[in-house]
Amino acid sequence: MIVTRTVADTRAVLTQLPRPLGFVPTMGALHAGHLELVRQARASSQAVVASIFVNPTQFGPREDFAAYPRDEARDLQLLEREGVAIVFAPAADELYADGFSTQVDVHGISDRFEGAERPVHFGGVALVVTKLLNIVRPDAAYFGQKDAQQLAVVRRLVRDLNQPVEIVGVPTVREKDGLALSSRNAYLTPAERAVAPNLYLALRAGAAAAAKPGGTYKDAIIAATLRLTTSDHDAPAAGEAPEFAIDYLAVVDADSFNHTQAIGPRTLLIAAVRLGSTRLLDNVFLSPSAHLTQGATV
Ligand code: PAJ
Repeated sequence: MIVTRTVADTRAVLTQLPRPLGFVPTMGALHAGHLELVRQARASSQAVVASIFVNPTQFGPREDFAAYPRDEARDLQLLEREGVAIVFAPAADELYADGFSTQVDVHGISDRFEGAERPVHFGGVALVVTKLLNIVRPDAAYFGQKDAQQLAVVRRLVRDLNQPVEIVGVPTVREKDGLALSSRNAYLTPAERAVAPNLYLALRAGAAAAAKPGGTYKDAIIAATLRLTTSDHDAPAAGEAPEFAIDYLAVVDADSFNHTQAIGPRTLLIAAVRLGSTRLLDNVFLSPSAHLTQGATV
């Protein structure tokens, strides 16, 4: 495995790789979710390139850029074990030289939900993903469904800018208890970690409500909200369970991130919550209620 630090070196070694080429962009602190992206990339490519770059432009001034977990030696070991050919791990000034002044804004999708909570976030993601795709020029790039809005932003920018790359969405990898893997889970206290899986259980409850005969998007939101805000979970001690503060809980179209009332194959139930000082994101697809899909059988 070759580790490159500069754009020029990366371009030079890339010419020696067979195609099709798969690409997995990351910010490091790798976990099994990232490694699943690498495995899917390997399964459909002749060679895989990964990047490790904690991208400063996607963090707001009061966010955790400085504190974001970093362990490059461990990350490189994991990527080598997965058979990655090249890891591009530049310093910040390699991608953002003095006087850098270009922006990439994907309007609309970027303004809602995560974008409303984190105003600079998707601009920074769109910018760095555009740059990385220009540098690596992969045939396919792999992104997690865990960050569903990011995936929608990337799909839209690739379409709008005619980038010759296929964007592949990879299902969310979870802990056994349902909590979606995230580098930020490391911030959870033991008590918060104990209740954190309730986010996914709440989304599942929402999906089940929508799938019942006559179930609607409202039933999904109500069932998920109830499950999140009722303290019937296995708390460390009764009365002391950390509580979820809901930033948003909504039913949206997976491509536009517009609110939607109709439930179809691309309908998502999305949520962001705060547990103490940690924000957790998750989402599930909704399927139409049984009376619509099965007609007379129910
Ligand atoms: P990062 O948070 O490191 O995530 C890298 C990729 O791993 C993203 O596509 C993310 O959706 C995916 N991922 C994270 N947790 C996952 C899980 N539990 N299951 C499956 N996939 C998961 O997302 C970023 O970095 C950055 O914004 C980036 C795209 C690299 C641009 O800087």
